[in-house]
Formats: sequence, C-alpha cells, structure tokens
Amino acid sequence: MILPLIYYGNNLLRTRSGKVKQIDPEIKQLCFDMIETMDANNGVGLAAIQVGKPFRIIVIRPVLETENGESYLGDAEIYINPVLSNPSENTEILSEGCLSIPKLHFDVERPVSIHIEALDINGDKISKEIIGFKAREIMHENDHLNGVLFIDRLSAKKRKEIEPALKEIKEKFNN
Ligand code: CO
Repeated sequence: MILPLIYYGNNLLRTRSGKVKQIDPEIKQLCFDMIETMDANNGVGLAAIQVGKPFRIIVIRPVLETENGESYLGDAEIYINPVLSNPSENTEILSEGCLSIPKLHFDVERPVSIHIEALDINGDKISKEIIGFKAREIMHENDHLNGVLFIDRLSAKKRKEIEPALKEIKEKFNN
C-alpha cells in the first residue's frame, strides 16, 4: 500500500525515531509499504518517519552503474535499527533531494564510505561497509531517524538563500 508522505514543515520530521523492538507482521508490512511508497514517488530512499511512523527503519534503492557508466536502480534494501560508524575521512560533494522536500536539490558534502550495522526484515544481523552513492543514500535516510534533514547540512549562507523556497513548500504541503 502506498502511504501518504509528510513534508517539510511537519514537526514529525524533526523527531527522533525509536528502535523497533520486535519485527512483527505489522513492522514487516510497514517495510514493504515503505518500498512501494518510495518507488511510487520515484525516490531512492525513504525513512519511516516520512510516512509518519517514528521507527528506526530505512529503505533504499541503490543507484548502481553499468560498466559503460549508465546508472540503474538495484533491488530495494531494508535496514532496521541501523547504526552507522567509521565514516571515511574522504568526502564527496554530490546533489541530493528528499521526498519530504519536493523538487529542491542541493549539493551536500558527505563521507565516501560508512559502516552499517542493522537488522534485515528477518531479524538477521547486517554488518558491512558501504561505498559510493549508496553510502550517501544510507546516510541521508539515517539522518531522518535523528530528525535531521539534508538542508541542515548546507552552509549557513546557502541555507539562508533557500529559505523562501522552503517557506513555499511549508505553506503548499501543510494545511
Ligand atoms: Co529525505
């Protein structure tokens, strides 16, 4: 089922999501609904709070590249209670967007790689190093679990510059 998204200006986006205590059928359904919602909105990542559910769950669709440099989307991945660590010192600046902040895209600096520990949908432990754009997707979604948005990672100057556009979204999508 496609779930309704919440948008910038909704205070829920600023809350810290809680750990999933048990991966019961309801949580599993939420995970599948999140993937459906992400795909329906042409997104490559979604955090549960973006559909108004304050759980530490993120889903992503990795943006991958063929040998010819053409990008394509991989299979959806689910991470429950993710914990990120060991960010690389190397960083990269690339354009990002967010389904909760429609149509705005800005360059964001993030580490190139990160380590993630999480549970999969069967409750099995995931522990791996993630590199490249997929790492960025995971870091963006993980930020949502702590009430952080990608626009918070812009310079103060840039953030001020985009304030009118943010105000417009706030008014258009929240009434
Ligand atoms: Co987002």
